[in-house]
Amino acid sequence: MRMLKSHVGLKKAALLDADHKKLGFFRCIVTSCRAVVLPRFGGPEVLELRSNVSVPDLKPNEVLVRARAVSINPLDTRMRAGYGRSIFEPLLPLILGRDISGEVAAVGASVRSLSVGQEVFGALHPTAVRGTYADFAILSEDELTPETSINYTCDKGLLVVGGGGAVGFSAIQLSVAAGCHVSTTCGSQSIDRVLVAGAEQAVDYTAEDIELAIKGKFDAVLDTIGAPDTERIGVNLLKRGGHYMTLQGEAASLTDRYGLAIGLPTATAILLKKQIQYRFSHGIDYSWTYMRADPEGLDEIRRLSEAGKLKIPVEKTFPVTQVREAHEAKDKGHISGKVVLELD
Ligand SMILES: NC(=O)c1ccc[n+]([C@@H]2O[C@H](COP(=O)([O-])OP(=O)(O)OC[C@H]3O[C@@H](n4cnc5c(N)ncnc54)[C@H](OP(=O)(O)O)[C@@H]3O)[C@@H](O)[C@H]2O)c1
Repeated sequence: MRMLKSHVGLKKAALLDADHKKLGFFRCIVTSCRAVVLPRFGGPEVLELRSNVSVPDLKPNEVLVRARAVSINPLDTRMRAGYGRSIFEPLLPLILGRDISGEVAAVGASVRSLSVGQEVFGALHPTAVRGTYADFAILSEDELTPETSINYTCDKGLLVVGGGGAVGFSAIQLSVAAGCHVSTTCGSQSIDRVLVAGAEQAVDYTAEDIELAIKGKFDAVLDTIGAPDTERIGVNLLKRGGHYMTLQGEAASLTDRYGLAIGLPTATAILLKKQIQYRFSHGIDYSWTYMRADPEGLDEIRRLSEAGKLKIPVEKTFPVTQVREAHEAKDKGHISGKVVLELD
């Protein structure tokens, strides 16, 4: 393992003491590090880069990753502003950040697929409290893959609503690689890029009536925007038996508004109502879709990236010391690539 920076607290004691061995816990050699902490909800100004944030012990299935870069996702800026308040408020201060690229610094006792020194990338579960905006992040083995298969083939028609965004653009490339026929909606500045990535038709949502402009009906719609009008259009453009998937499930926002006891059952009732309603009116499946990193998906991303079939444009890079500026840039919106935070 290479030398750690001076802002990292080092444990002089043996790495694995007898008690931890018995429990299957790995004592991290790193006990504290720099991290961007969210002490309260608000604008970018609430973010604090602190130097002595503790690094917990690793559980048997966990991996300590020395971060090189993380990206600023819409979920991060929304969480900063209070999205998920019902879950996260009692847990403040928390560390934002879901995805990571870096190097394995230590592994838990049962980790078999990764070893110290390996370059890795991955993503945490959306509800993780200790995020990745830190010199050292902790992810489970399943949430990482070595850097060096959505295993399906598809000859079906897919409509990606919001193909200009990071998720939509990735979905286009992954689906094209799997053999799907992909159409998309995006802003005018993204049209050329999505067509080069393999979309067969791209409609500018700011200039055209999507329902009239899009040709054909689809087996599936991935709606990354999830607004009432994109939902209506997506559902109308599906064949009978098709699948509508929105990334904007309402569970977290309803729980924030009404609390867990009322919010969660309300969300379940709304989802069920929509599922029944759309099955009768359009003969389609309706679902709320949530991100989850798994080894097969991450492996497919790695394979396609290496083959040059998956390219994620980076719009702007900031050092971690400018995390507030990075959030401001993301808040402004209409950025055609990722906003990246460097920790090295
Ligand atoms: N459910 C989950 O687990 C999950 C996981 C990841 C992301 N998400 C959510 O998915 C959304 C997209 O994430 P992202 O990382 O791709 O965001 P992003 O990179 O910021 O992209 C958002 C894009 O949406 C486009 N857009 C806005 N309104 C549109 C409309 N009416 N029709 C078509 N496109 C429109 C804009 O494209 P132009 O610039 O071309 O105008 C913008 O670039 C976010 O709300 C995020 O919170 C959910």
